[in-house]
Amino acid sequence: MKRLAFVGLSACLVLLFAISFAIDLTREWTGYQRRFLRSLSQDERRGVPTGIQQIQVKSLTRVDRCTTCHVAIDKPHLALAEEPFTTHPGDYLTWHPPEQFGCTVCHGGQGLATEVKAAHGEVKHWEQPLLRGPLVQASCGKCHGDLKAIEAHVPLLAEGVQLYNRYGCAGCHAVHGFGQTVSIDLSDIGDKPWQLLDFTFIGGRHTLPQWIEEHFAAPRRVTPGFRTTELPPGEEEIYPTFMPNFGLTGEQARALTVYMLSLTGESLPAKYVVPAKPAVPPVYATSIERGRAVFNTYGCAGCHGEGGLGGRKNWNAQLGEEEPSLVYVKMYYDRDSLKQLIREGRQPVPRRDPSRPRSPSYMPSWKERISEPELYDLAEYLLSLYDEHVPQPVPASSEG
Ligand code: HEC
Ligand code: HEC
Ligand code: HEC
Ligand code: HEC
Ligand code: HEC
Repeated sequence: MKRLAFVGLSACLVLLFAISFAIDLTREWTGYQRRFLRSLSQDERRGVPTGIQQIQVKSLTRVDRCTTCHVAIDKPHLALAEEPFTTHPGDYLTWHPPEQFGCTVCHGGQGLATEVKAAHGEVKHWEQPLLRGPLVQASCGKCHGDLKAIEAHVPLLAEGVQLYNRYGCAGCHAVHGFGQTVSIDLSDIGDKPWQLLDFTFIGGRHTLPQWIEEHFAAPRRVTPGFRTTELPPGEEEIYPTFMPNFGLTGEQARALTVYMLSLTGESLPAKYVVPAKPAVPPVYATSIERGRAVFNTYGCAGCHGEGGLGGRKNWNAQLGEEEPSLVYVKMYYDRDSLKQLIREGRQPVPRRDPSRPRSPSYMPSWKERISEPELYDLAEYLLSLYDEHVPQPVPASSEG
């Protein structure tokens, strides 16, 4: 009887061992490690640690197990061409030693996870999916205040920042306290949980980068509008979003997306931050030139078009279905009335059809934002647009 129990128990134990051994063998990471080891000679294997690997970076409160699968990331002599056995491209790991930086601070993903999908954060509950391909440039701005110094390595991010200024996004959006509050504050847009976005009009995988990029390509398709409640039920009208379609190329939309993803609320310890050197303020030859810079800095172009030439949609405004071009202001304003209008703004704008809902866009007030000397130059610039763009009659000859 006793002997029978003993044999039975032993059999159970053996079975348990076998099961746990089998589970271990079928874990994703053990599979990758075995495949990698098979590619090495006896000698080479000795220098390769096995089991779960982790980089603990206390000051960033991160534990990254990426190297459990990415076994050759810092071993160029052993690396293979296929993932996850490649070596790291460039000198990034020299500039940012893994033991001080880990991996996720740049790449995103879920440091502690040991299965591919979870580790890459490409699962429903994880908010920082792997920044694939060039999207990884979005991380560099968290620490490098001076993008100029690393421009060669962040071409898309640098282009995104440039486009943001050129198209006058600051006329509607604020980032870290700079910009109008006409629309959503973008300071933390890179942290926005994708669940808060409306994917009704977006196919494919539902991720934050995808939403942002498609919204840039076609804002009015992605957010076709909000139902206004001003009219009686059943008669409400839907205006599409007044976020302009800037006619961006695919690359431009991607560059702006990288810039958006770089905007996060993450604050890093001082030793990780490489501050920008104070910029030398540019010098302009004339008041008009200074005024052009004021126009560009504050994002007037966001609503009035580049150079004030117009072309941006609004709906049901007395002045038309577009935000006005500023080429003709000289015909309606003198310097003082122009400065006054810019200080006060005009909100809401007069409607063309009073029975339809208000225009979604308006002229915001700038008196808290633009200083008086800047305002003077801005007015000079706007008043010069007429002469710049409207062909002048040739003066009649005074002789003869
Ligand atoms: C369980 C194994 C495993 C773990 C853990 C893992 N990876 Fe990967 N990784 C892979 C495999 C397999 C691929 C290739 C397939 C793919 O791209 O999804 C890959 C691909 C990648 C790529 C290239 C993707 C591309 O599209 O260019 C990057 C970057 C990467 N991993 C980063 C990470 C980071 C960062 C971590 C840690 C947070 C991590 N990986 C953790 C297995 C893993
Ligand atoms: C300082 C930021 C930074 C850190 C830290 C970093 N990487 Fe990268 N990684 C990059 C950049 C940038 C690229 C893309 C380089 C390129 O395409 O030229 C890259 C590329 C890769 C690739 C190749 C896939 C591809 O897109 O070509 C893998 C795999 C990868 N990294 C894994 C890791 C792992 C694992 C760690 C942690 C040990 C790590 N990285 C740490 C910035 C970083
Ligand atoms: C967590 C903060 C952090 C992140 C994220 C980060 N860096 Fe760095 N980086 C640093 C620090 C700190 C140094 C060291 C600066 C020094 O020694 O003066 C550095 C050094 C460098 C250097 C070499 C020194 C130099 O200025 O020429 C380059 C190039 C560089 N980083 C590019 C990048 C790129 C590209 C990315 C994004 C893929 C990136 N970094 C992401 C913090 C970061
Ligand atoms: C959020 C959009 C928006 C931004 C940003 C904006 N404007 Fe306007 N602006 C408007 C709208 C809409 C009107 C039309 C008001 C109306 O219908 O009476 C307008 C009207 C004007 C007018 C009067 C045009 C006319 O023909 O009567 C001037 C001048 C003007 N804006 C200058 C500026 C300047 C300078 C800036 C930057 C400091 C600026 N605007 C930024 C939306 C904007
Ligand atoms: C005329 C005003 C206006 C200008 C200029 C403008 N936007 Fe917008 N933007 C909006 C409005 C309104 C929304 C909200 C409705 C929507 O999502 O389309 C929005 C939404 C967004 C969102 C989504 C934010 C979120 O959390 O849902 C992003 C990102 C964005 N804009 C970026 C930009 C960038 C980058 C530029 C410049 C290239 C820009 N916007 C210029 C009005 C503007």
